[in-house]
Amino acid sequence: MAAANAKFIVLIGFFIAVEASLLPHSDKITHLPGQPQVQFQQFSGYLTVDEKKEKSLFYYFVEAEVDPHSKPLVLWLNGGPGCSSIGVGAFSENGPFRPNGQVLLRNEYSWNREANMLYLDTPIGVGFSYSTGSSAYETVNDEITAKDNLVFLQHWFLKFPQYRNSNLFITGESYAGHYVPQLAKLMIQLNNKKTIFNLKGIALGNPLLEFTTDYNSRAEYFWSHGLISDTTYNLFTSGCNYSRYVSEYYRDSVSFICSRIMSEVNRESSRFVDKYDVTLDVCIPSVLSQSKIISPKQNSERIDVCVEDEVTKYLNRRDVQKALHARLIGVRRWDVCSNILDYDMLNLEIPTISIVGSLIKEGIPVLIYSGDQDSVIPLTGSRTLVHGLAKKLGLNTTVPYRVWFEGHQVGGWTQVYGNVLSFATIRGASHEAPFSQPERSFVLFKSFLESRPLPQEF
Ligand SMILES: *[C@@H]1O[C@H](CO)[C@@H](O)[C@H](O)[C@H]1NC(C)=O
Ligand SMILES: *[C@@H]1O[C@H](CO)[C@@H](O)[C@H](O)[C@H]1NC(C)=O
Repeated sequence: MAAANAKFIVLIGFFIAVEASLLPHSDKITHLPGQPQVQFQQFSGYLTVDEKKEKSLFYYFVEAEVDPHSKPLVLWLNGGPGCSSIGVGAFSENGPFRPNGQVLLRNEYSWNREANMLYLDTPIGVGFSYSTGSSAYETVNDEITAKDNLVFLQHWFLKFPQYRNSNLFITGESYAGHYVPQLAKLMIQLNNKKTIFNLKGIALGNPLLEFTTDYNSRAEYFWSHGLISDTTYNLFTSGCNYSRYVSEYYRDSVSFICSRIMSEVNRESSRFVDKYDVTLDVCIPSVLSQSKIISPKQNSERIDVCVEDEVTKYLNRRDVQKALHARLIGVRRWDVCSNILDYDMLNLEIPTISIVGSLIKEGIPVLIYSGDQDSVIPLTGSRTLVHGLAKKLGLNTTVPYRVWFEGHQVGGWTQVYGNVLSFATIRGASHEAPFSQPERSFVLFKSFLESRPLPQEF
């Protein structure tokens, strides 16, 4: 009898699995307006993470181009806090398409060549994610975001049970230097009771990991790239450093000295130079502005040197929103970075490098990479933090600092500690590395997934 019951349960389980994999999925995207024909499937929609506060998070899921069920699952998060992973990550950086006028162009270096890519608009109030419960947008913080992200993932696996056992990686950039380690920490805590997540590694691009180190690497970066003078560099390091300024700024108490020094820094560095890529002379659309928030602005009126913003136009089309099963709730239009979210900006000061350390101790491999033309979270700060963490954990160098190759050219530099903590730069890349160096970023991503050393020669 018991055996018969067990068989029955197995049978039921089998039917549920068949149903999940064969029947049309309500979140399946049949066709995005203007998209070329592709062989892979796309899904998007909402998952409720809090019934009481009516909080719903929006995701966009792109299956791998070939053989998705044997490929890893990768969650990608953008930062801000408050910027859209769908708008920035999927449609400008490493997703399969980029909007161009009325159509979508294929991104040849889309990360779904190697993985199933899951993009999440988080927290509520970002992109198409929303809450209809009153006052839910007030002072959202890291803790709430991490909890909601965790619930989202749990619910997502109920919707896509076929990916439950896939190797899972969590990736992101900028303020996701907070989101990703904080989420991974909660996942490990759950796993220690009962294995739920098959977490195999995390990768962070130009991440905010430690407030003072990251912010104070800006002065030297500006100075060494000619953005500020010797005199101003001295003031920016001894009179008022950048971490002090940001700290005062978010407490509404900017001192006279900091105000004066920052005016000079801003005057010299000029608002016509993109701080997310100090060397490229191109127009980086305002869509790529996720850290405009972690980098407070001095002038209230900002001049956007870009006339067009393809992603914003595309995602504001009614037919596109319909195809994505997306709704605009509580806002008139879709924005790259949220105007309604009221994030607790003092959370910027929470160090997450120590959480990264605890993940490594749990055996989770970590890659910290850095687009080397970014002055917002410069490579120098990240490199110092990684080196310091390796020392603290007693990890010896396993790959000494060296160049790595993409094709016949140097893709950047790398160093690996204890075969588990990796640092890499991406040469010529901006804050949004996959946007400005898609090919090099793709090589880095592939090596990371395969836990293989970066190409040493061509
Ligand atoms: C930045 O300024 C603060 C406050 O004056 C100081 O405590 C800190 O040591 C400075 N950091 C650096 C890297 O100069
Ligand atoms: C790291 O290197 C030191 C010095 O060579 C050695 O004593 C130590 O055992 C090494 N640690 C590990 C974890 O391999």
